[in-house]
Amino acid sequence: MSTAVPPPAPSQVNQLELNILNSVTEAIIATDHTYSVIFINPAAQNLTGLSARMALHQPLSQLFAAEDKLLYLARVAMEEARSISDHETIVLHRAYSAPLPISASASPLYNDAGNQSGIILTMHNAANLHQLQQDLQRVDRLAMLGTLAAGLAHEIKNPLGGIRGAAQLLSLEMEERPDLAEYTQVIVRETDRINGIINELMDLTRERPRTFDKVNISRIIQDIVLLQQQVPQFRRIAFHLHLDPSIPPISADEVLITRLLLNIIKNAAEAITDAGSVTITTRINTEHHLSIPGRQPVPFVVISVNDSGSGIDADTMKKIFTPFFTTKSGGSGLGMAICQKIVNQHDGLLNIESTPGAGTSCYIYLPLKR
Ligand SMILES: Nc1ncnc2c1ncn2[C@@H]1O[C@H](COP(=O)(O)OP(=O)(O)O)[C@@H](O)[C@H]1O
Ligand SMILES: [Mg+2]
Repeated sequence: MSTAVPPPAPSQVNQLELNILNSVTEAIIATDHTYSVIFINPAAQNLTGLSARMALHQPLSQLFAAEDKLLYLARVAMEEARSISDHETIVLHRAYSAPLPISASASPLYNDAGNQSGIILTMHNAANLHQLQQDLQRVDRLAMLGTLAAGLAHEIKNPLGGIRGAAQLLSLEMEERPDLAEYTQVIVRETDRINGIINELMDLTRERPRTFDKVNISRIIQDIVLLQQQVPQFRRIAFHLHLDPSIPPISADEVLITRLLLNIIKNAAEAITDAGSVTITTRINTEHHLSIPGRQPVPFVVISVNDSGSGIDADTMKKIFTPFFTTKSGGSGLGMAICQKIVNQHDGLLNIESTPGAGTSCYIYLPLKR
């Protein structure tokens, strides 16, 4: 004998389901069979910048006129009655805010009778994911360069040592020709410079054992700024520090973190041709967490370095992490590549925003591991 469980009153079910749909962080939009929107949850209103009033009863083709790929997903779900996703290529163009990379899925929507009555679109913000993918590509590039550099460094360092030694001997022989001695000095100086670049390159690519200690970020920043203020070229730069005193020491490699911050702060100062300002701010970011399976999620410390310098145009921005890319006459072009590597070694993130002509902001995220 089967006991019939009375179905819950439809209104109750609807209210509960509605509460769920309205509370999830996933953006959800449903349409009828004419692609006209019949439901949009708050997360979807947030993501798209469309209010319920603007979106309801409007066709998707009008609301998302610029998003061909999203409309394609909708069409497949509607016409072929199957689910389809795109996690990589959709960029949402919104009226009042910046374009946003999203990940989206479309599925057929069925009514009680089991007939298809429309479609459901689910979307979420994929900006972080994109950032992560870009980071991974940079890491890949570095790994490749590492193999190349290790071989190259070995091949170059030996003959370089020979050249330097010979130049020194030559200078001893030239005591009675001081007019020529200058040339041998140039040889020695330039070989030292090449040697320096190779060492830097090897530093970048070699895995050196890290020593993780408790590191006081505020102190490192203060020390770096104190020294940079003495550099004659940076005389007319005002350095402003806003360091959150409540940030505890973080677990990190002090030598590497110092190199990271020095590179970023020097780049900021070097971007200022005459007078200007460099502002360094630290804070704890509680919106994003580093998740390690089986461990408590840890928040990030964010160090932002903002300069009023030249800014970085879109073309340059694509290349700044490429080793040896530099726009400076005496630059090595290794600074940013080294920074990226150090940030990766600390499970952090590096983000750069710039307005050409107005300045650049560099954001370093480091996990606050205790
Ligand atoms: N804060 C900044 N403002 C403007 N341009 C920057 C900034 N940081 C980096 N860059 C650009 O990125 C390039 C690469 O930087 P980096 O790898 O540190 O090498 P380098 O400083 O030796 O040129 C710089 O030459 C510059 O064009
Ligand atoms: Mg640099």
